[in-house]
This record gives sequence, structure tokens and C-alpha cells, in this order.
Amino acid sequence: MIQIAIVGVGGWGKNLARNYFHNPNCLLKYICDLDEAKLRKMQSQMPGTAMTTRFDDLIEDEDLQGIVIATTAPSHYKLCRAALLAGKDVYVEKPFVLDVTEAEDLIQLADEKRRILMIGHLLEYHPVVNRLKQMIESRELGDIYYIYNQRVNLGTIRGDENALWNFAPHDISSILYLLGEEPTDVSARGQCYLQDGIEDVVFLTLNFNNRRMAHIHVSWLDPHKIRKITIVGSQKMAVFDDGEGTEKLRIYDKGVTHNQDYDSFAEFITVRFGDITIPHLKIGEPLQLECQHFIDCIRERKVPLSDGWDGLRVVKVLDAAQRSLKSNGAPVAVSLGSRGPGERLRAVQGS
Ligand SMILES: NC(=O)c1ccc[n+]([C@@H]2O[C@H](COP(=O)([O-])OP(=O)(O)OC[C@H]3O[C@@H](n4cnc5c(N)ncnc54)[C@H](O)[C@@H]3O)[C@@H](O)[C@H]2O)c1
Repeated sequence: MIQIAIVGVGGWGKNLARNYFHNPNCLLKYICDLDEAKLRKMQSQMPGTAMTTRFDDLIEDEDLQGIVIATTAPSHYKLCRAALLAGKDVYVEKPFVLDVTEAEDLIQLADEKRRILMIGHLLEYHPVVNRLKQMIESRELGDIYYIYNQRVNLGTIRGDENALWNFAPHDISSILYLLGEEPTDVSARGQCYLQDGIEDVVFLTLNFNNRRMAHIHVSWLDPHKIRKITIVGSQKMAVFDDGEGTEKLRIYDKGVTHNQDYDSFAEFITVRFGDITIPHLKIGEPLQLECQHFIDCIRERKVPLSDGWDGLRVVKVLDAAQRSLKSNGAPVAVSLGSRGPGERLRAVQGS
């Protein structure tokens, strides 16, 4: 039985704890949090799991294999580093870390220690995102022109990171995953209304080769709760609305056709309105799929879908976007670099 511990059981970590506690393929051995009241609450729901405020209890337990880090972002680097140094496989919530060199350091450490490093890029495990990826790869949507994501609500306002770093990792990771290519440059505009120096709303644009574009709107200061991805292709268009219950994906057979025989401009370009389909998808809980993936990676020594390199790419885009924010939206070039497949394999083999 794979032995797991979780650090940080706040708003999100308690969902991870619930998943690991009920997963028959692992033992949730410890829950660690600095807040004793939270531990008392978890203890009543998860008998048999040890509660501790000491992270060192996890590090010192030689039988413990995996540590799940779901604390607030500024603590990710230090906890992740200590866990890897102790020879543990690590899952860390998004944003991976807040600095490119920290991400590179952790990837190198995981490689040296042959440990698994997985980042909580939840949308990469979402059945709808995976259906969209299939549709893009099979060219069902045609050439992809542009994508736009909205992730807005009136919600948890953070004091240690802005809306870009808090929300956009999901959007950046899913866009890079869907398109399978890296942006050439990014530009971002945003504004701080509630706290000095912390943007509440950010509009981020990613430019790709072949005139492809992606746009991300994130905010925790908005009247709507929207979690949406819209993809516009030359053949069809698709909308993933995560706010919907079962009908999360709609495919619009809509497009514009250039005709060869024409007498007027109106005949040259015709707009096509076809059917709207709602594919039936068996939607498992994405978080459950993600947690199971971490366990499978530990057991089979496989490289996670969202590994450290995936995390680094997202942090590089966030870092470029942050620099653009500070220079009023000036485009900032991005170079994500290759992940080096040999390095990825070596990272976890021979445990
Ligand atoms: N994947 C998702 O959809 C998703 C959603 C929400 C949050 N998150 C991420 O999860 C992480 C946690 O977010 P949250 O909303 O639960 O935050 P939170 O502030 O509600 O909870 C953080 C918890 O970590 C504990 N903590 C902080 N430092 C610690 C340390 N050094 N040792 C032990 N415990 C420590 C705090 O006491 C608190 O209980 C963040 O990285 C956030 O971005 C992911």
C-alpha cells in the first residue's frame, strides 16, 4: 500500500485529503498543518490518519513514500525541497513555485534523487479538456485560430499572490497542453483595486506561431462565477463550460467558408451555421483522476503528465506575464526550452 501524507488542509487541501483518504490504493498516513483547529476537524472525519503540526514527522518516516503539498504558494519551494531531499515523491499544488530558478532547482533535485515531481495542473486531467485535445489533434475543429479562457468570480482574495499567479496556472497549463506548442511572447494588463501591488484582475494574451492566439481573463473581483474555455477553429468551435452540470461541452458546427465561384464579396465569404452537439462524456471527478495518477506514478515509477517540466513552463509564462504587467502590457518574449526526454525518464527510474 502506497503511504501518503498531505501538508496543508485549508480550503483546497481538504479536498485532496478526502480523495486520498477514500482511495483504496493508498494509505493517508499523516495530515500536517500549522493550524491545530483544522487538524482537530480532520481527525473527526479521518480516523486512523495521524495529525501533526511537525513537517519533520513526515520527513523522518522512512516508510512514507509520497508527500502532497497544498499549502499557500510562498511555502511550496521550501517544503518541496525538503521532501525531495528526504527521498519522497512529491505532488505540489499550483502555482508550482513563484520563481523560475526555484522551479529549475527542484526539477534538478528530483532528477538527482530519482523522485517523482508532479504539479497540480488539474485541467490536464479533466475529461472535457482531454476530449478537446483529441478533437484538436484529429483536426475535427480544423486549424485552431484562437482560444480564450475566463476564470472569474467574487471569491477568496489572497494577500500573498495576485489573481494571475493564483488562477492563471490552470489556464496556461491547459492552453499549452491543448495546443502542444509554446507561445512566442505574452502581454498582460491588470489592476490593483483592493490591495496595493496585488492585481485583482488580469487580462493576459499569449501569441503563438501561425497567428494563433490565446487570451486569459482572471479575476477574484467579478459578479459572475465563470470557468470557461472557448476554442475557435476553421471548421468548428467548441465551448467548455465547467459551470454546467452534465452538459459541459458544446461543439458548434459553425464557420466561415471561402467560395471559389463568386460574383460579389457576400458570395466570396459565407457564414455557415450548422448543428450544435453536446457530446455525452463520462465525467469522472478530475481531482480523483489526478490523485490516482500520482499514486500510479509512485507505484509504476512513471513520469507524471504534469511533471516538473510542465510546471516550469507555466512558471516561465507567469514570470513573463508578471514582467509585462509591470511594464503596462509591453510584450515579453518567452522561451520555454525543451524538457529533455532523457532527463525525464532518468528522473524516476531505478527507485
Ligand atoms: N487545483 C485547484 O483547483 C486549486 C484550488 C484552490 C487552491 N489551490 C492551491 O492549493 C494551495 C492551497 O490553497 P488553499 O486555498 O487551500 O489555501 P488556504 O490558505 O485555505 O490553506 C493553506 C493551509 O496550509 C497551511 N499551511 C501553510 N503553511 C504551512 C506549513 N509550512 N506547514 C503546514 N501547513 C501549512 C495553513 O495553515 C492552511 O491550513 C495553493 O497553492 C492554491 O493555489 C488549487
